[in-house]
Amino acid sequence: MSKVYIARPIPEIGINLLKEKFEVEVNPENKVLSKEELKEAVKGTDAILSLLTDKIDREVFDAAGNQLKIVANYAVGFDNIDVESAHQKNVMVTNTPGVLTEAVAEHAITLMLSVAKSIIEADKYIREGEYKQWEPMGFLGPQITGKTLGVVGLGRIGSMVAKIGHSGLGMNVLYYDVKKNEDFEKDVDAKFSELDEVLKNSDFVSIHVPLLPSTKHLINKEKFSLMKKTAILINTSRGPVVDESALIEALKSKQIWGAGLDVFENEPELIPGLADLPNVVLTPHTASATIEARDAMSKMCAENIIAALSGQTPPNLVK
Ligand code: GLV
Ligand code: GLV
Repeated sequence: MSKVYIARPIPEIGINLLKEKFEVEVNPENKVLSKEELKEAVKGTDAILSLLTDKIDREVFDAAGNQLKIVANYAVGFDNIDVESAHQKNVMVTNTPGVLTEAVAEHAITLMLSVAKSIIEADKYIREGEYKQWEPMGFLGPQITGKTLGVVGLGRIGSMVAKIGHSGLGMNVLYYDVKKNEDFEKDVDAKFSELDEVLKNSDFVSIHVPLLPSTKHLINKEKFSLMKKTAILINTSRGPVVDESALIEALKSKQIWGAGLDVFENEPELIPGLADLPNVVLTPHTASATIEARDAMSKMCAENIIAALSGQTPPNLVK
């Protein structure tokens, strides 16, 4: 019977599907495995269900052995997996596209609104007993309706954020992507611009690119200098897309107004100083954390593994 290793407890829907067909072992502890623990755990397995916190590289493929057929990542991003080594070892790699689009887009919009409306700061102010009188000029922030939303990366998630911004919040949409999407432009009344132009002209900038060598520190010191002093940056993609030292500087020197971040350069560590800034809202990489999305991700991972171990092409193979 084929063996499947699941590197953390995940919603049981996928685990149950896998248990119907295979010998399944789930990491009993809800903790990220060290490299050594991971290598030991995957020895002799035919499939690994990995999390975005598991670095799956050559060493892990070698430790698993030549029978390994598939690594199914419980995430849409797969920068944690060395896909080239996987291909050299004839291991298939899959991700979970499409099922977390709404969840992540909702989260990006939530961060946008939370930063603009100082929701976290205001909540803290009340809890700390500071609300003694109504303030005519307290907690002032930008209105959102009619402002310009700059979407960097117009994949599924970026498109959904643009749609919500445009139809739900009356925003004008600019976008940058490696390719222009004319159908989308008609649909959402979005305008394509080069990255620098998007940054110069947007009141809210939301990042939706995958982490690749070409997108590491895509938003750096020079890019912050182009942005409006009133701009709010939202990142729900991957931490290293934004140069965090440059971000802290930009926030401290009021080069930009604020930021909403779900991802960080060295998760779960935070860069010193970030959590001391009032004009940021921070969430612990929870953008896809809806019950619906996580169930669907679990199921999708299982379906990919079932296909691969039955000699079929998994539906969500990455290139
Ligand atoms: C989460 O960050 C994902 O890539 O699914
Ligand atoms: C990821 O699902 C994307 O295409 O944005």
